[in-house]
Amino acid sequence: MKICFATNNPNKIMEVKAALGERFEIVSLQDIGCLDELPETGDTLEHNAFQKAKYVKENFGVDCFADDTGLEVDALEGEPGVFSGRYAGEPRSDERNIDLLLKNLGDSSIRTARFKTVIALLLSGEEYKFEGVAEGEILYERTGSAGFGYDPIFLPKGYTRSFAELNLIEKNAISHRGKAVSELVAFLSHI
Ligand code: IMP
Repeated sequence: MKICFATNNPNKIMEVKAALGERFEIVSLQDIGCLDELPETGDTLEHNAFQKAKYVKENFGVDCFADDTGLEVDALEGEPGVFSGRYAGEPRSDERNIDLLLKNLGDSSIRTARFKTVIALLLSGEEYKFEGVAEGEILYERTGSAGFGYDPIFLPKGYTRSFAELNLIEKNAISHRGKAVSELVAFLSHI
C-alpha cells in the first residue's frame, strides 16, 4: 500500500520507514511533487496535523498522514508545546531552539518534560487520529549527535542516554512518534 507521509524531514521518513517495515510504501512530499510549505496555523497539535494532511489530500489527491509534535516542559508551563518548531523564531533552527530552551530553563531543578505526537490520517475519505507520548527530562547540556530537533537535550525516562545517543530502533521503541506510528501501523494492519 502506498501512502504519503506529509513531511520533508528525512529523519522522520527514515524513522517511520523503519517502524512500518516493508508492507507499506512510504512516499515523501518531495516524492509526490509537493514543494510547498504546509500550513500549520493552529494552536493544538491535532489541528496542525489535520491541517497539513488535508492540504496534501486537497492539493495532491493522495491518501496521506501528517504528524505534529510538541515538547512540553513543566517548569516552562508546557512551553514550547505546539510552538516547538518555531520556538526561537524564523527561520527554524534546532540549534537556536535548544539554546533558547536551555536559557529559559536555566538551572531550574524541575526538568520533567514530554514529547507528544499526533498523527492525522486521511484514508479513503475518513479521518483518523493516533497519539504517542514520551516522558523524560531536559538535560543541562547537549549530549549525543544522532537524531534531530531537541534530541540532544532529552533524556527519556528510565534511560541514561539522551535521544541523540540512541540508534533509530532504540528511539523508535520508546519515542512519541514511534508510539503514534505503532498505533497507525496496528490500525493499517487491520484494514
Ligand atoms: P514537528 O511538529 O515535527 O515540526 O516538530 C516540532 C518541533 O519538535 C521541531 O522543532 C522538531 O525538531 C521537534 N521534534 C519533533 N520530533 C522530534 C523528535 O523526535 N526529537 C526531537 N525533536 C523533535
